[in-house]
Amino acid sequence: MSKDLIDSDISFSLIQEGKEKKLHIVEVKGVELWNKIFERNRNYGGYLGFLCGSQGSGKTGLSATIVDRVFREYPDEMVLWGEPTGIPAQFNKIHGDFQVMTHKDFPLELYTIKDGSPLIKSDDFPIRTFRSPKEAITFCKSGILNVLFFHPEKLGKHWMRVLRYFKMDGSWQTVILDESEEIFPLNPKGQQWHDNVNFVNVCKELRKCRINMFFNSQQQWDIDFRMLGKINLMFYLRGARVSKVSPVWQGAVSQLKPGQCYVILDNSDYGIFRFPEYKPKSPEYILLPTGGRGTK
Ligand SMILES: Nc1ncnc2c1ncn2[C@@H]1O[C@H](COP(=O)(O)OP(=O)(O)OP(=O)(O)O)[C@@H](O)[C@H]1O
Ligand SMILES: [Mg+2]
Repeated sequence: MSKDLIDSDISFSLIQEGKEKKLHIVEVKGVELWNKIFERNRNYGGYLGFLCGSQGSGKTGLSATIVDRVFREYPDEMVLWGEPTGIPAQFNKIHGDFQVMTHKDFPLELYTIKDGSPLIKSDDFPIRTFRSPKEAITFCKSGILNVLFFHPEKLGKHWMRVLRYFKMDGSWQTVILDESEEIFPLNPKGQQWHDNVNFVNVCKELRKCRINMFFNSQQQWDIDFRMLGKINLMFYLRGARVSKVSPVWQGAVSQLKPGQCYVILDNSDYGIFRFPEYKPKSPEYILLPTGGRGTK
C-alpha cells in the first residue's frame, strides 16, 4: 500500500499498531474513501455525509477531525459549525481557532463548567450577534471555525437560509451540523414540517454547489427520513444500526471498536478507517440563553 494513501490523522493509529501489519482490502478502501472527501473535484462536487453511532462513539470527534484537515489543506475555505446550546460546548474540540456568533433573537451567555461547583460566567471569548443568516455569512472568516447559533425553534429555517446563501457563493465550503436531529427532526409538527421540507430541498443541490456538509446523530431514525435519501456518504460508528440496503452488514458494524468507522460512498463502495481521539479541552464551556438558564 502506498504511503501517501494514508492521511496523517489516520496513519497515526496504524503506525501505533505497527505499520508493517498487512492492511486488509477494506482498510485500504476506507483510507481511500477518507482521502476522497478532501479532494476538491468539480466533476463530482461536494459530499453530503451522515455520521451515525451511539453516544460517545466519536461522531463529534470525527467531525472535528474533518474540520482540522480542511484547515490544514484548504485554509481559504469557509467552515461553518452548528450545535445545540445547553450542553457542554463541542466546537472547541477542534485544534484550530474559532469564532462564535448568535442570532439577535437568541442572545447567549458563556459559562465555564467545573467539577463540583456551579457554572461560572466567563468572557474568555466574545459571542458576536448577527441580525440575519445573510449577515452571519458576512461575518464568517476562512481558516477558523465559524460557530453559528439560532433560536431552537428556527434552527431548520435559519440553517436553510445559510445554506441557500452559501450555494450562491461558488467556492468550496464545509458545513458541520452536530446533533442534527435538533435541526431536522423525525416527526416534525406544524411549521417545523415545512422547515424540514425546505431544508431537505436545499440539501439536494449542495453537491453541485461545492458544499461539503456533514451532520451527525445517534441513529438514523432521529432525523427526517427525507434527508437519508439525499446523502452520498454514510459513516457508521460504533453502536450504529445499519439501514436495510446497506452494503455493510450489521454484524460488522456491531464489532467496531472506539475510533473505528465504516464509510460508504453512494451506497456502494465501502471501507473501514480509524480516527484519532478528541478529548474535551479545559476549561469546558457551556452556552446558555440570556435571562434564564435552560430556557429558550
Ligand atoms: N478515536 C477514538 N478513540 C478512542 N476513544 C474515542 C475516540 N473518539 C472518541 N472517543 C471517546 O469517546 C468520547 C466521546 O467522543 P465524542 O464526543 O466525539 O462522541 P459522540 O459520538 O459525539 O457522542 P454523543 O453522541 O454523546 O455526542 C471521547 O471523549 C473519547 O473518550
Ligand atoms: Mg457528539
